[in-house]
Amino acid sequence: MFKFNFIDKNTNEISSDSLETNQTVALCSTQIFANETIPCLNISASDLNYFNCTNNLIVKYLSTNYIIKCMKDQSNAIIYADRNHSDLVAGVYEGGLKIWECTQDLINFISFNNTQLANQSVLDLGCGVGIIGTFCLLKGAFVYFQDYNPEVIRSVTIPNVMLNLENLKNVQEFSKFYSGDWTSFLDILKENKIKFDIILTSETIYNTESYSKLHSIFTNCLKKDGVVYVAAKTYYFGVGGGLRSFEEFVSSKGILNFTPVWTHSNGISREIIKLSWKHEMQ
Ligand SMILES: C[S@@+](CC[C@H](N)C(=O)[O-])C[C@H]1O[C@@H](n2cnc3c(N)ncnc32)[C@H](O)[C@@H]1O
Repeated sequence: MFKFNFIDKNTNEISSDSLETNQTVALCSTQIFANETIPCLNISASDLNYFNCTNNLIVKYLSTNYIIKCMKDQSNAIIYADRNHSDLVAGVYEGGLKIWECTQDLINFISFNNTQLANQSVLDLGCGVGIIGTFCLLKGAFVYFQDYNPEVIRSVTIPNVMLNLENLKNVQEFSKFYSGDWTSFLDILKENKIKFDIILTSETIYNTESYSKLHSIFTNCLKKDGVVYVAAKTYYFGVGGGLRSFEEFVSSKGILNFTPVWTHSNGISREIIKLSWKHEMQ
């Protein structure tokens, strides 16, 4: 079990020194400004990776080795997870350092379907490395990036967006960044009356406890004609969540339509579902 009752007040990060006993507290949501993050210095060719989207569009991103190397003197949840070879430590580090499989599925889907992105307001919910949101930025959208861990936003997502948009001014003009738990992120969105044309979220429904948090963001922050695309595995074995139980949850609330739009059933089954308002709810 883990305890993270030591949260640095300046960074809102969980100290890895305190991850040892049994109390959990969700991280509070906060906006992180691109100009406050330390720019990446001394990047060599081997520190860069390339994510091949469709139509020859490439998104650049920093290698995990480089990110860990930059953080090596820090004591935070990512370093803790890396040292323990964990992809995910519930409530502490939620997996934002690596690119999960459904990211490629979602990019292929919105690309092949010519989803209108230019001038759209997009939320990359649970963005991690930020490939999906960066793809949307390069297609002309305004993008909100959100991840649980502030150190992921600061040291991974923002530097990656910078690499692709090339200067801070563009990043500040076309994107915003938030860290923290979805419950308090929703408070910020509601307070600022922020709504989205498109909400994209990949591999975020593995924990059934997250269903109501995600559903509340969708129903409070989706514009009238907006759509949500959820890309996920059909079942997350050993974790509990999956698309069938999420479908049941959404149907039980009776607010959003749940439409399967893509399925891959070879090997571990993955799907994309579309959520939109039921007509009577608009
Ligand atoms: C498995 S990772 C997927 C990352 C990315 N979307 C991808 O496909 O590569 C799950 C993401 O959801 C975010 N997340 C999980 N639970 C969360 C919570 N309760 N509040 C806020 N973010 C959460 C994590 O920070 C992480 O970015």
